[in-house]
Amino acid sequence: MRLDVVTIFPEYLEPLNVSLVGKARARGQLNVHVHELRTWAYDRHNTVDDTPYGGGPGMVMKTEPWGEALDSVLADGYETGSRAPALIVPTPSGRPFTQELAVELSGRPWLIFAPARYEGIDRRVTDEYAARMPVYEVSIGDYVLAGGEAAVLVVTEAVARLLPGVLGNAESHRDDSFAPGAMAGLLEGPVYTKPPLWRGRDIPDVLLSGHHGKIARWRRDEALKRTAANRPDLIERCDPKGLDKKDREMLSILGWAPDPDGEPYGRFWRRPEGMEQ
Ligand code: ADE
Repeated sequence: MRLDVVTIFPEYLEPLNVSLVGKARARGQLNVHVHELRTWAYDRHNTVDDTPYGGGPGMVMKTEPWGEALDSVLADGYETGSRAPALIVPTPSGRPFTQELAVELSGRPWLIFAPARYEGIDRRVTDEYAARMPVYEVSIGDYVLAGGEAAVLVVTEAVARLLPGVLGNAESHRDDSFAPGAMAGLLEGPVYTKPPLWRGRDIPDVLLSGHHGKIARWRRDEALKRTAANRPDLIERCDPKGLDKKDREMLSILGWAPDPDGEPYGRFWRRPEGMEQ
């Protein structure tokens, strides 16, 4: 996979040389190019921003440097069809970046990132390139960063670990929180390793039992507990068809009940306080 990043802070992308992404680059699985946007700003101060039309606070990134930068990146190998690049624009106004989107992006051969500083990039830039390639405006969460570079690192790492051969063990993403499959829609529960006793704390007996069925059930119950505590919205969204009898028992213990009016039928909702099981 090829990645290009156009930024006014190339040094912010240094972490792309480290760890999983760095190793994938060294092995030739990822081909990364970081470009300094100001290369394409021609005035004395290498200006890349200007005041917003219509007034208001902050500055807006200008069309010309972005247009020239992206044209230059695209000129180096642009293809249509299955080899076509996609443009990723990190912005708090984008669609939420999810594991599902990471999987989709990991299937593309070439991603070009356009992280903005200030109040964002003049809209005409995304409109211009959307005519030539898919454009994904993505948000990594409901908070506002000073710029999109941190989001580029987040998206890159989530995508890179899905590329064939990047993670040592192909099974490693099977049980990821948010991965499709048996645990779909639930967060991963706690994990333990040696030693069996640390500062008076032992590990759950079931994990030493060697009983695969019981271990799987325990993991599932822990996943349900953690999801109910940290992400009740995921329990509410979860399709009840994917819940077995034991899942329902655990949810009932945790204070959840099937909602007879839920869509699909029996979707779980949190039982109001004082309501009997
Ligand atoms: N730029 C600033 N805040 C952001 C966010 N939450 N996600 C993606 N890009 C951003």
